[in-house]
Amino acid sequence: MALNEEVSGTGASGPGRNLEEEIRRFWDADAPTYDDSSSHRPRDPAVLAAWTAALAHLLPPAPARVLDVGAGTGFLSLIAARLGHTVTALDLSPQMLSRLQRVARAEDLEIEVVTGQAASPPEGFDVVMERHVLWTLFDPADALGSWRRAAPNGRLVLFESVWGSVDSLEALRSRARQVLRRLRSEPSAHHGSYSDSLRQSLPLGSGTPPARLVQMAGAAGWHRARLERLRDIEWAERCTLSPLERLLGVQPRFSVVAD
Ligand SMILES: C[S@@+](CC[C@H](N)C(=O)[O-])C[C@H]1O[C@@H](n2cnc3c(N)ncnc32)[C@H](O)[C@@H]1O
Repeated sequence: MALNEEVSGTGASGPGRNLEEEIRRFWDADAPTYDDSSSHRPRDPAVLAAWTAALAHLLPPAPARVLDVGAGTGFLSLIAARLGHTVTALDLSPQMLSRLQRVARAEDLEIEVVTGQAASPPEGFDVVMERHVLWTLFDPADALGSWRRAAPNGRLVLFESVWGSVDSLEALRSRARQVLRRLRSEPSAHHGSYSDSLRQSLPLGSGTPPARLVQMAGAAGWHRARLERLRDIEWAERCTLSPLERLLGVQPRFSVVAD
């Protein structure tokens, strides 16, 4: 794995260096503990197998050239590489990517690593995928357009979940899960949170509604969008919970796939 290219430049409608820097600093600081959270990197073999099944089902047959945008510590990249795909991991955080490199090296997996902006991806892919990245982009519509150019005849695969203001009942459940975690003194999934001013400048900073993602993908030139609930992953996650936690359920997960 070796290659670590630097792709410079911001998206077409850049928010300014300071806010971009704030995001990079946040994820660099989050990197050492990011994988401690089972919602980020599940250790349970069944949950991992359910994710593997989802990627095997949603990606084209291997070997495809796959770009993982906002790859972070490489949860999706590593699964795709294990499935036999040729993977490029793009992220603005060198610290997140160095975690990915460490695991890839330990498993002897070839993954190309590129440090750069989601809206300025390298080109020449069969698939562009992401998990939980669109919410943190200043111009997700522009990014979806640049991903189209990165894979002009390829496939878009978005892995997302229902959070924030998307569904009021889910928001209540999520708050109850947080309270339970706090009562049990479980560590938070992140070292901190984005500032209010940063979050307010993100169009999807309070949630990623499925309908909005489908509409944005279409407007960016992606065709035949398909929405799928990732029920097998949710089921495997639910099996890891205590009876009390099961009452509160797990965060609903879904994918949007388009050509
Ligand atoms: C919530 S984490 C998701 C990481 C990974 N996709 C996963 O599923 O575990 C968001 C990631 O997006 C990256 N990121 C945020 N803004 C970005 C941008 N503008 N360009 C590239 N990467 C970005 C962060 O560094 C971080 O690694």
